[in-house]
Amino acid sequence: MLTVPNIRRMKGGDKIVSLTAYSAWMTRLIDSVTDVLIVGDSMAMVEYGMSSTLGLSLDTIIGHCAAVNRARQRALLVCDLPFASFERSPQQAYESAARVIAEGGADAVKLECNEAMAETVGFLVQRGIPVMSHIGLMPQHLNVQGGFKRQGKGKTASRELVEQAKTMAHAGAFSLLLEGVYSETADLVTQSVTVPTIGIGASQGCDGQVLVTEDILGLTGNNIPGFARVYQNLKPDIEDAAAQFAQDVRQGAFPKDA
Ligand code: KIV
Repeated sequence: MLTVPNIRRMKGGDKIVSLTAYSAWMTRLIDSVTDVLIVGDSMAMVEYGMSSTLGLSLDTIIGHCAAVNRARQRALLVCDLPFASFERSPQQAYESAARVIAEGGADAVKLECNEAMAETVGFLVQRGIPVMSHIGLMPQHLNVQGGFKRQGKGKTASRELVEQAKTMAHAGAFSLLLEGVYSETADLVTQSVTVPTIGIGASQGCDGQVLVTEDILGLTGNNIPGFARVYQNLKPDIEDAAAQFAQDVRQGAFPKDA
């Protein structure tokens, strides 16, 4: 099983491969080719049909994390702390993160972090909880950022994001997830920190890449972000299988009596 130090050492070396996972069955299919499985709060939208990630509860994500943990054999397991489960204080973050580790079986937590969260990152790391800092486009900050907008455009915004990345690394984050960051800025961030960066809608120059598994399988339909790539479009196959079953049942062709 890969560990936090294993992933940290991949900085500037082999690219880190990361995918999201929400269930045991999907984990069995993707774990062997993945370095980091992320139980992301994107499940709120992908799995639960919510319009944002803001409504996902800590209990819900812990249940999914435990399912993924039961099925994985290789990848490091990182679980998101959902909105409102960590921002109030380092103590609140510790209580939520400890549950994600103890009940969900995660190796590390991921926090959407601006500079205000640096103290919290340090507090968790000093108490044995590894942290991946998620910066750039932060879906939990949807209302502050004014939608799902790319971040780090222009010199000032770029400099600010580089400073934020350095602050997170200095606070003890073992890696940074860069979401929706202009590629020049993502490259600058990657060059400015000694911990690995994992990009999504960021830059080829990041130390690794992550995508939402349902996106690469064509299962998110019209909601697939522009930066994602569909590697296999399973949607028509699933629709066909369901339609064939429905037809067989209606025509009495299933089941066949023995
Ligand atoms: O919630 C999520 O799935 C994420 C991905 C970018 C990994 O944060």
